[in-house]
Amino acid sequence: MNIEVLLTETEIAEELAESLEARDLPEKFFYWTPLSIQSWKALSSRSEEALRETWEGLAAKAPSLTQAFPGIVPVISFGAGEGLKDREVLKALKAAGREAKYFPVDASQALLEMACAGAEDDDCDAHGIKADISSPMHLLLAADVSEAPRLFLMVGNTLGGFDPLDQIKHIAECVHKGDILILDANIHAGAIEPSEEQKRFVFAPLADAGVVPDDGALEFMTKPDDRLDGLHIVTRRFQAARDLTLRAGGREIPLARGERILLNFRYLFTKEAFRWLLTEQGGLRIIAELPSGDGRFVTAVCIKG
Ligand SMILES: C[S@@+](CC[C@H](N)C(=O)[O-])C[C@H]1O[C@@H](n2cnc3c(N)ncnc32)[C@H](O)[C@@H]1O
Repeated sequence: MNIEVLLTETEIAEELAESLEARDLPEKFFYWTPLSIQSWKALSSRSEEALRETWEGLAAKAPSLTQAFPGIVPVISFGAGEGLKDREVLKALKAAGREAKYFPVDASQALLEMACAGAEDDDCDAHGIKADISSPMHLLLAADVSEAPRLFLMVGNTLGGFDPLDQIKHIAECVHKGDILILDANIHAGAIEPSEEQKRFVFAPLADAGVVPDDGALEFMTKPDDRLDGLHIVTRRFQAARDLTLRAGGREIPLARGERILLNFRYLFTKEAFRWLLTEQGGLRIIAELPSGDGRFVTAVCIKG
């Protein structure tokens, strides 16, 4: 298995401790440990089911979308996770007689290993890239593993885990003439009560740091983001009910009763806001748009505008 490392485990461990000290935990820490991955899989299995049809439809389009690509089709997936959706695309390319090379990009070593192993099981050459996709430099370095034309994927509402107004610009910078980008978003359908799976998923990094559910309360809040009509953010935070000591990266981090830690947020979009983001903010052109059967997701196929 071939995994190139731009972001080391030591850097992640140090950044986790610093983030806990700063009371603000970014998205990448929610997929890093076995407990987080287990909680993520339990949470995502339901949406995987709802998205199956969309993905089968999209994967079936991959051979025609990449028809003009000469030779091997490079498939670069930002925030690939375990690569289950990506594999559908790889399999469809193979079934159409196209050879593909898969480049999953993720901060989670364990998920990258799963993504590479899965592709290799399907006889597809894979080269994982362990990188921080919130860094424009890492994104460009990861995109440069192959020359255009490339097929980029950023799916499973990965975009919603970052500030979308900034992130779409960084992603669009990687997209050159001839490249194709497939990107999806979670549609805003009003405030929804968080499920037990969602609570376990956002609590997992705290549990790894030694916190137990009785140590405090989780709060979920959905609110509009004033910068763009139709853009909404779901914030999650933990408030300590007693004095606690968190442990991460070899450090002991005190958290006083009443203090809060911001956990990872999720952006949700109306279809119009998502379109505006891609075209006006990202300078991309949408060539196809596919809603999921349950109406909760929309997937866009884009090229450089
Ligand atoms: C919402 S999941 C989507 C996974 C996959 N694409 C899917 O559809 O199931 C987001 C993925 O992005 C990765 N991720 C989150 N923040 C990251 C960061 N800053 N750098 C690299 N990967 C990150 C996570 O490890 C996770 O695999």
